[in-house]
Amino acid sequence: MSLPEIRLEELTLGRVALEELVDRDALSELVTSFYELFRVPLRVFSEEGLLIESGREAEIYAYLSGSAGGKQLVYDMIEAVKNARPEPGQDQDYECFTGAAYRISAIVHDHRVIGRIVMGPYLPPTVKQVPKALVQIEGVDPKQIKDLLAKLPRAKAATVAQIARHMRRNLDLILNSGHKSLLTSSMHLASVRESYRDLESKNRKLQQAYDQLKELDRLKSNFLATVSHELRTPLTSIIGFSEMLAGGIGGSLTSEQAEFVDTIHEKGKQLLQLITDLLDLSRLENETMSLRRSEVQLVKLAEEVVRSMQPQAKKKQVILEIESNGHVPAVSGDPDRLRQVLINLIDNAIKFTPQGGTVHTTLEKVSSDLEDDDGIGAALLAGSRSDVQVTVSDTGCGIPQEEKNRVFDAFYQVETGNTRHAGGTGLGLSIVKRLVEGHGGSIHVEDNEPEGANMVFTIPIH
Ligand SMILES: Nc1ncnc2c1ncn2[C@@H]1O[C@H](COP(=O)(O)OP(=O)(O)OP(=O)(O)O)[C@@H](O)[C@H]1O
Ligand SMILES: [Mg+2]
Repeated sequence: MSLPEIRLEELTLGRVALEELVDRDALSELVTSFYELFRVPLRVFSEEGLLIESGREAEIYAYLSGSAGGKQLVYDMIEAVKNARPEPGQDQDYECFTGAAYRISAIVHDHRVIGRIVMGPYLPPTVKQVPKALVQIEGVDPKQIKDLLAKLPRAKAATVAQIARHMRRNLDLILNSGHKSLLTSSMHLASVRESYRDLESKNRKLQQAYDQLKELDRLKSNFLATVSHELRTPLTSIIGFSEMLAGGIGGSLTSEQAEFVDTIHEKGKQLLQLITDLLDLSRLENETMSLRRSEVQLVKLAEEVVRSMQPQAKKKQVILEIESNGHVPAVSGDPDRLRQVLINLIDNAIKFTPQGGTVHTTLEKVSSDLEDDDGIGAALLAGSRSDVQVTVSDTGCGIPQEEKNRVFDAFYQVETGNTRHAGGTGLGLSIVKRLVEGHGGSIHVEDNEPEGANMVFTIPIH
């Protein structure tokens, strides 16, 4: 199997955001453990805003926010820290009006700043007493502010710078592993996308081939219909004139001439039958054949057909029998087309049954439950349908198991010497199947033990 082709741009991740790269749990763990170790509050910001923070809010700022003069100062300080954008590798120290400090570092990935780490507030050891400006803020109690300032974590700027560097390195590790897994999943996605594209293009080609075949099939049917139609008119004349010659209308014939004329007549009729079959088939394929429905007594129709085929059966010394089981109701159908079905089946049965054999036609009413998808419970509610079932069984060569479905294909004949010898074109059953289905029924071949074929078709009773 060849690997799907992947375009380069699908592999590069483009501008990835910090939140896409890091595993939040891992980052939160890291930030918390840093705080527990160094006790300096820590915040990680992405381009979108705050991602993770640890450490409590410094009480001094809460207190100052509540004072008349401190509120604005605190607000400005927060804005300044939030908006600080240090260059990669050049941390920025921010000194607050309280004397506390912050250290802000850029988070860089793939040569791009994708966020910031803010450490603080912490009190550098250089701040030895409460800044004057702080005590002078309106509404501030000097004693309280001194206590609150003392609560801030104390650390040297150099130590905080070291902690920040350490934090950045750890974060780099998390970012790299995040990048790796993001790349893997995007590669997987790209390969799935490529396979899908491949499948889509194959599908399109298949659809085109199907459309072409359909068009060809339509052209073939049209061609068959036109040619058959054009052949029928001259053929009718050939049959008519040979009939007249045989009848002596053109003068008396010698026995040899009469024999020739009979052959012309017989072959002409065979050809006409073939052409009629072809026309029927193309009309059935085009769905341009309409059924002229009326109420049909299938038993009467079958008896008529059997009677008309008795001479043919007698000639071959085959016994033709017909039987109906119980009351067989009328069906709604086209009598001419149903006659055609019966003639074809009985004709085949006689054709493939040797001398002394029997062709037996049975008609009966059968009922079957309509299938329902909902299972056992719904079976109680499912309706049942009634059909008239016609079985034509013979004692002939039979149809091999593996050919049982194929005999309904146009031009298909079972490859035995018997079939070749029997003649025909292999169109009969394909027409029969379409006609039966056109009536809403179905046809199949059943086993006929110990010998012969058993053709069963049903027509629904409406
Ligand atoms: N009763 C049967 N017994 C054995 N084989 C059969 C029987 N009916 C049909 N077949 C097989 O199925 C094939 C197809 O039947 P179908 O009626 O379509 O064609 P055909 O009889 O050969 O020609 P056509 O009906 O066009 O004159 C036959 O050639 C034969 O091999
Ligand atoms: Mg046939």
